[in-house]
Amino acid sequence: MPDTFRIIVTGKGQYLANAGDTLLEAGQRAGFGFPSACRNGNCLRCQGTLLHGSLTQRIGNLASNTRTVYAGDADAARVLYCVAHALEDCEITVPDITAPGELPVSDVSCQITAIDTLNHDVSRVMLRLPAGRKLRWHAGQYLMLALPAGDSAFSIANAPGGRDIELHVRHNAENPPSLDVIEALRQDSLVRARLPFGERFIGETLPDRPVWFICGSTGFAPAKAMIEHLLASGFQHPIHLYWGARTEADLYLPALPLQWAAAHNLRYVPVLSESADTAYRSGLVHEAVLADLGDPAAAEFHIGGSPPMAWAVFDALAGAGVPADNMHSDVFDYAPRG
Ligand code: FES
Repeated sequence: MPDTFRIIVTGKGQYLANAGDTLLEAGQRAGFGFPSACRNGNCLRCQGTLLHGSLTQRIGNLASNTRTVYAGDADAARVLYCVAHALEDCEITVPDITAPGELPVSDVSCQITAIDTLNHDVSRVMLRLPAGRKLRWHAGQYLMLALPAGDSAFSIANAPGGRDIELHVRHNAENPPSLDVIEALRQDSLVRARLPFGERFIGETLPDRPVWFICGSTGFAPAKAMIEHLLASGFQHPIHLYWGARTEADLYLPALPLQWAAAHNLRYVPVLSESADTAYRSGLVHEAVLADLGDPAAAEFHIGGSPPMAWAVFDALAGAGVPADNMHSDVFDYAPRG
């Protein structure tokens, strides 16, 4: 009989558990944020459902008093993982569990402290988190704002830490709902936010290779957060920032990447698709990246922009030999191709 079992946590990932480990302790050792308190079968904090497989679970406080639970049993919906041992590979659900590196989602009321115009159609919205709530997020993640017309997602444009959150909101007549969004924010002093969301981030463990950021429009926002995080963390590898826009006027915050490039190991390449200004690279942003790409497998790529733009960059880079696992964009999760 094998003494190590694969435990799938629905929607969160998987880990290995030795026969002598409880599912709780093996999961926590693998980095899962398993809810728990007593670790002794009393508080019910770790309770969840066994979907596939079988396990033994202790009953009461006597170690010798156990029962076997099979998926589909009535008891399978009330498994206490702190006193459960796998008998085979299992799939389980655990309410409120977080995957390794995943942070818990909070729902908070934020103060809207400033709205500044950055260019003809992008505004910077500053939010302040409530005092006394220590919220964590990773650079590159996003939040959801509860607005009158429904929830809207925005990338967080500043590095984690502190109480202030920066958003870049694009609003123009080509996208009428975006006008309602900025108007709603201007009309109120508070907004409810849920955060953090997103799997494509740079966490506390920094990449051990160069990082390329390829963005269009407000896809610059998550790139900005990740670049600020890398620079503040002493990242030593080169950083490449390629920002595509139609015209120079679309490049909001134009001085910031130039400041980064002057002070750090960062190369900034703005690329304009509808401008004859010879001071800029012309064409589409991924064309400029392909022209400058060295070893396609030696770097990590973060892509920010609309689904068509992100997938076009993905296809172009994949065609040039960049491994799919080296490319990251929230688009790949919320707008996957069939
Ligand atoms: S942690 Fe208390 S019952 Fe499992």
